[in-house]
Amino acid sequence: MEQALAARLPAADAVPARLHEAMRYSVLGGGKRIRPALVFATGRAVGLHEEQVEAAACAIEMIHVYSLVHDDLPAMDDDDLRRGRPTCHKAFDEATAILVGDALQPLAFELLANDARLPADPAVRLKLVQLLAMASGTFGMVGGQAIDLSVEGRRISIEEVEDLHARKTGALIRVSVMMAAACQPQLPAELTARLLKYSQAIGLAFQIQDDLLDVLGDTATLGKAAGADSMHNKPTHPAMIGIEASQERVKLLHAEALAALEPFGDKADALRLLAEWLLKRNH
Ligand code: IPE
Ligand code: IPE
Ligand code: MG
Ligand code: MG
Ligand code: MG
Repeated sequence: MEQALAARLPAADAVPARLHEAMRYSVLGGGKRIRPALVFATGRAVGLHEEQVEAAACAIEMIHVYSLVHDDLPAMDDDDLRRGRPTCHKAFDEATAILVGDALQPLAFELLANDARLPADPAVRLKLVQLLAMASGTFGMVGGQAIDLSVEGRRISIEEVEDLHARKTGALIRVSVMMAAACQPQLPAELTARLLKYSQAIGLAFQIQDDLLDVLGDTATLGKAAGADSMHNKPTHPAMIGIEASQERVKLLHAEALAALEPFGDKADALRLLAEWLLKRNH
């Protein structure tokens, strides 16, 4: 992923160099790359080669990084540390951080339109653009971020929290699986539905785990400030139902995810491993 992303980012010395340097700083050298891993694992489950989905993996990671760079801005979560390093607006400046996000977003769609190794079928390309646009926009990640900010310090129901998570984090996790599936147009609808179930379960589990780590983790391991959610009075599972019940919820979602993969047999082993890792991760 490091090489795949580096090759698709503008050169650090191309004009405007400061913006390109900040884009490379934010995208490269860190991050768990869980979304790309999901793209490749799903590709394997549906019988595709890695190179056929590599550009989709890069596009999703670019949208994800843009969301992190903006999420860390003073107007949003106001964080100084990301992936073990100063956040983009700290290492550069706020205007540059805003532009990094603004530039990564169209670059993601440019990849889907232009990459030579993605399936050539225009219907597949269009589907990829639709999926990523919807997952990133107001009914996906951006909408989730808006709700996240609007509920700080407010009491909302656990159903509302889960709806927020499904948008803010779930949408990009879900689309990592669904874009890889879309690269295999022959996939039977029943199997596509199974993948959707899997991705919804791990998407929610992923954010609950993120919120658990905010309480239980330490800043050095996390590479971002622990305790930030309670400082901002974010309604999260640990804050609302406690740590144990949150861990139970993650386990239940894990079991749901595994059950959904059953018809894939051992072709879905990589997806199973990722679900497993999600449960055990400490950063
Ligand atoms: C962090 O995502 C933001 C959330 C959606 C919870 P990741 O935990 O995947 O962050 P990186 O990419 O590894 O830094
Ligand atoms: C961020 O959620 C989700 C997106 C960036 C879309 P958080 O605000 O919980 O992520 P961290 O904890 O800063 O990584
Ligand atoms: Mg946030
Ligand atoms: Mg944040
Ligand atoms: Mg968090």
